Amino acid sequence: MSDIIKLSIFRYDPEKDEKPFMQSYEVPFSGPGMKLLDALNYIKWHIDGTLTYRRSCGEGACGSDGLNINGINGLGCITPVAGLKQPIHVRPLPSMEVVRDLVVDMDHFFDQYRQIQPWLKTTSPVPENERLQTPAERAELDGSYECILCGCCTTACPSWWWNGDRFLGPAALLQANRWITDSRDEAMGERLDQLEDSFRLYRCHQIMNCMEACPKELNPTAAIDNIKRKILARKS
Ligand code: SF4
Ligand code: SF4
Ligand code: FES
Repeated sequence: MSDIIKLSIFRYDPEKDEKPFMQSYEVPFSGPGMKLLDALNYIKWHIDGTLTYRRSCGEGACGSDGLNINGINGLGCITPVAGLKQPIHVRPLPSMEVVRDLVVDMDHFFDQYRQIQPWLKTTSPVPENERLQTPAERAELDGSYECILCGCCTTACPSWWWNGDRFLGPAALLQANRWITDSRDEAMGERLDQLEDSFRLYRCHQIMNCMEACPKELNPTAAIDNIKRKILARKS
């Protein structure tokens, strides 16, 4: 491995650039533990303070540094540079409006998350202590609760690129399934009513890009399939 990492990074400031361009940088390789976010931080702190990107936790927990890395969506903070072909092409998440450089406008993505009403809905009286769940019922939520809403799946989904105004996309649907599956939630019927729509749910054509893009190794396709099966089951 060379001592230098070469990167080609998408740059665009809508307030001053006529169009986007790719800018080349070279940063020192700091060792096998070096992640792409370390390279971006090096550029920001030592070479070019104008480079703009989001990050927070630095350890794959907050979901703020979803990027397109050599053509594949992923998180900068957990992607080792050592395994990447150079120059490493770093672009914003696809199909999103660019605010500046690698920062995209996530408003619509989070609005779709809000649409699935991501909170526990109940009608039964509030118990004295808490709403209990067996270990098996709790285990049903594995594969859903780990989602960090990074957007890597949704912005890799061709159906969302084409119909993102109406198709909720894999992240929101995985979260919808999380609440449908939760044994304590008492609004499954209402949730399924809201999702039973040719666009909101059924624009998923099982292309499975979402599953391949998820840095937490979750499976939104299976979650979407589960919602479809629940809708089918209540019809029979
Ligand atoms: S499986 Fe469905 S949600 Fe996932 S990428 Fe394909 S169309 Fe999109
Ligand atoms: S399912 Fe995976 S890729 Fe999609 S938002 Fe959640 S963590 Fe990110
Ligand atoms: S910085 Fe938080 S997930 Fe990467």
